[in-house]
Amino acid sequence: MSNQIWQDDGDKQRVRDASDIIRIIGEVVALKPKGREYAGLCPFHDDHNPSMAVVPHKQIFHCFVCGTGGDVFTFVRKFHKMEFREALEYLAQRAGIELKPRRREAVEPGQEGISRSQIHEANAVAAEFFKAIYNHAEHGRSARTIVEQRGISLAMVEKFGIGASPDRFDGLLMTIGKKRMDPRAFTEAGLLRTKLETGHMYDTFRNRLMFPISDMIGRTIAFGGRKIDEEDEPKYLNSPESRVFNKSATLFGLAQASRAIQVQRTAVITEGYTDTIACHQAGLENVVATLGTALTREHAVVLRRLCDRVVLLFDGDDAGQRAADRAAEIFFAEPIDVVVATLDKVTDAKDPDELLKREGGLEVLQKAIASGVDVLRYRFARVARSVEGGGIAVRSRAVEEEVARLADLGLSDVEPVRRRMIIRELARLADIGEETIARAIPVARGARRRPGAPPDTTASMNEGPATSITRLANGPLRTIEALLGCALCDPSLLATLDENARAILAPRRFETPDLQELAGAVLDALGTSASDLGSLLPMLATTEAQSAATILQARTDRETTSDPDRLRRHWTECLRQAHLESERAAPLASGADTDALLARIAQAAGRSQRFGGDLKVYPRPNGR
Ligand code: CTP
Ligand code: MN
Repeated sequence: MSNQIWQDDGDKQRVRDASDIIRIIGEVVALKPKGREYAGLCPFHDDHNPSMAVVPHKQIFHCFVCGTGGDVFTFVRKFHKMEFREALEYLAQRAGIELKPRRREAVEPGQEGISRSQIHEANAVAAEFFKAIYNHAEHGRSARTIVEQRGISLAMVEKFGIGASPDRFDGLLMTIGKKRMDPRAFTEAGLLRTKLETGHMYDTFRNRLMFPISDMIGRTIAFGGRKIDEEDEPKYLNSPESRVFNKSATLFGLAQASRAIQVQRTAVITEGYTDTIACHQAGLENVVATLGTALTREHAVVLRRLCDRVVLLFDGDDAGQRAADRAAEIFFAEPIDVVVATLDKVTDAKDPDELLKREGGLEVLQKAIASGVDVLRYRFARVARSVEGGGIAVRSRAVEEEVARLADLGLSDVEPVRRRMIIRELARLADIGEETIARAIPVARGARRRPGAPPDTTASMNEGPATSITRLANGPLRTIEALLGCALCDPSLLATLDENARAILAPRRFETPDLQELAGAVLDALGTSASDLGSLLPMLATTEAQSAATILQARTDRETTSDPDRLRRHWTECLRQAHLESERAAPLASGADTDALLARIAQAAGRSQRFGGDLKVYPRPNGR
């Protein structure tokens, strides 16, 4: 027993030494060098800013938000959901290390449940079987003929592991019997089915061209089987979902495309398997396909870890419109640009596969990809068309609804730059001038106008002293200024408030431009990695705002004696005070059309509550 443990440890050590954690993690998460470390989006929580650090000289990774961390084994086991032994074998194989023979399984097959690795093994055995059939002089002939007719090259047959299932009910079944494997694993993988009446098992895939569907590291997890005989139905038969196959998170060709996707920082998503293969054959290697379904948020999550731009390539504009609408919603809160490209604008070819077979087809396809439209602009253009000719009321309502929808989808989580773009576009739809729009941005965060302030904020911004610096250093602080000071000392305090409550720090409520700018930046930085003072300062455009930040932070820190508990109590007390003050304030007076609209937009945006789960606690700015 103990002998065995020692042996494993020896293997584990050798494999760990031979594995490069940057490479292993870098294959599934794009990593950027950052000093002596690398940073990437953490795959173990819903990360929107690179929170995971990978440290090459220590061969470890850790996420400073969700706390997940460990060595290359930890990562592989957690990310690929592998048992320890599977992870060991996977890493050993990649490093070209031969493991010491494994101890015989204590439990006889058939006595325990089927493990995930048995399902993987079943899929791997089936993939080999289908390849053997494909290459069989007689049984693979019709499949090879189809592949030749479609102009799929030998290189692509190999790259995508294309195979064929034989035209009989027990081809795979017999192979399993010969290998003495447990058929239950094949049943779980969806490769075998059982006839209810007789209890007899038979092959799921018969007489089909087989496209293995793999996970990111190339393990076969399912199959797509295209009919060979025109009479057969359905056209495509796919493996059912299983413990190793989550259809809505899987993209066909991702293992083959992931390097190119990372290098080009762009992924192209086509509608079909054959389109993806044709693209790779033509040299476009950053191309994948959904599995005959719509794009999901899970796809988005997989892709955003690899790249920052996704091109949805649709055959026709009809499907494009619908899918773009959906995609806009799915990718909305993801830090990734999504572009919609439709073929029917540039060609009469029905899909990329057909287009690429034509003379000059590649250039046309590249042109289509390059001329894609941002998915939100695409969507907003549709909203605009729907209100064409309507008056301000109609347009306002449409914009209001759209904002409410976007708020539900997480408008508040969207990066500041993109959020500005969105609000600007929407305001344009409602015919509001650019200037007003620029001023409207903080409002859209749920801010309420300071009681008594004139509706036009440019007026208040141009009046009075430009800075409050001397008062901030020593004079009496307003409640909201004290709150801002607390938030500068510990940004996680602000993150505990919901959007409405945060409006207490809305820029409009501050009297001088320096504090207005500072408050805006603090709110903008929430939920990004830039909330500590050090990284906040470069985001401030004026030296006045920078001084205000520094002084306010230092003063608050001094007054709370750098004690986190004291800081928290101070914060809570100021909050209570601020609420009392705002209760005394008059309700929002109705202003001009534009103002009322902006207030409604602000309200709608304020309804969006998607905090929690991704709250980041930052180190205290003073390093304590
Ligand atoms: N699909 C499916 N089931 C069907 C038809 C299609 O799952 N009955 C999925 C497949 O993933 C297919 C994609 O939808 O790749 C696109 O369908 P289609 O354009 O009909 O197939 P192509 O990939 O173009 O295949 P072919 O060129 O063989 O017609
Ligand atoms: Mn097609």
